[in-house]
Amino acid sequence: LDMKNPVVITRELAAASMPKRPTFGHKGTFGHAIVFGGSKPFVGAPIYSGHTAFHCGVGLSTLVIPEEIYPVIASQNQTALIQTLPSEDGHFTGEGIEATLFEKVTAVVIGPGMGRFHKGPEFVMDIMEHLDGQPVVIDADALFHMKNQLEFLTHYDGSVILTPHPGEMAMLTGKSVPEVEADRMGIAENFAKTHDVNLVLKGHRSIVATPNGTWINPIGNDALAKGGSGDILTGMIAAFLAQGALPEDAMRAGVYLHAASGENAAIECSHYGVTPEIIISSSKKVLRQME
Ligand code: APR
Ligand code: MG
Repeated sequence: LDMKNPVVITRELAAASMPKRPTFGHKGTFGHAIVFGGSKPFVGAPIYSGHTAFHCGVGLSTLVIPEEIYPVIASQNQTALIQTLPSEDGHFTGEGIEATLFEKVTAVVIGPGMGRFHKGPEFVMDIMEHLDGQPVVIDADALFHMKNQLEFLTHYDGSVILTPHPGEMAMLTGKSVPEVEADRMGIAENFAKTHDVNLVLKGHRSIVATPNGTWINPIGNDALAKGGSGDILTGMIAAFLAQGALPEDAMRAGVYLHAASGENAAIECSHYGVTPEIIISSSKKVLRQME
């Protein structure tokens, strides 16, 4: 059994993975991404994901955030719609999920900046159980909250994409970070097949794995090694899913775009000086080469 035969994600492959844009499309055509996240310590994360989704072509994005952080989110955010849910100590309480939140939603993100809270596992499950087969990206602490519910993800009636960094992958598999890093390809491929989910194993040379294939991203640099960078990747993948891309296409296009944006940003700003805002704005030029 040859488990280590990945395909390299070239710019051509990434470009071919982009969703097509109908000329007469309106904002409904291009989808609606909804992001569940944010907490008092992590206010920026959902804003980055939602704003990136806009930069990557989505028609609408909505941030669903804990009520207590509404004022700061509303003052920083210019593009997304905002919905609030009950909160306590700067985190979701776990209450308030209802079907109306998901009307016309075409992609769902759970996790950016959500943090860990007592009712986290029940909250993430409650979101999942309200969905109607829309593709879901599970990131950051939503991975932690779902770690004992992988069976549910296997049987979800839609696409599931997990975006762990090596520490989160270690948490999901019960391995150590060095063990994950020693066999990134094999572990990603095996996890995707075993749990019948799609996966981006992040880090230098990210791996994209589906139950049917594995790809490696050959670009990207340490300019991306900064808080907020993961939230941007999540927003890119969600935008492409919301516009109708299949999971493997959305992951390949997103991972390549993210890495190339980091490289372009570093050319202008040095490897030290890149910020999440600069990564997002550098994505414009890369998108021009991919469309
Ligand atoms: N080379 C290439 N790409 C890199 C490199 C590198 N040296 N370092 C980081 N990256 C990329 C990764 O591939 C990934 O896409 O940057 C992104 C980093 O994502 P995360 O590790 O998820 O970082 P982020 O979420 O922005 O911030 C860290 O995530 O899980 C939480 O507890 C964690 O709060 C922390 C937050
Ligand atoms: Mg992260």
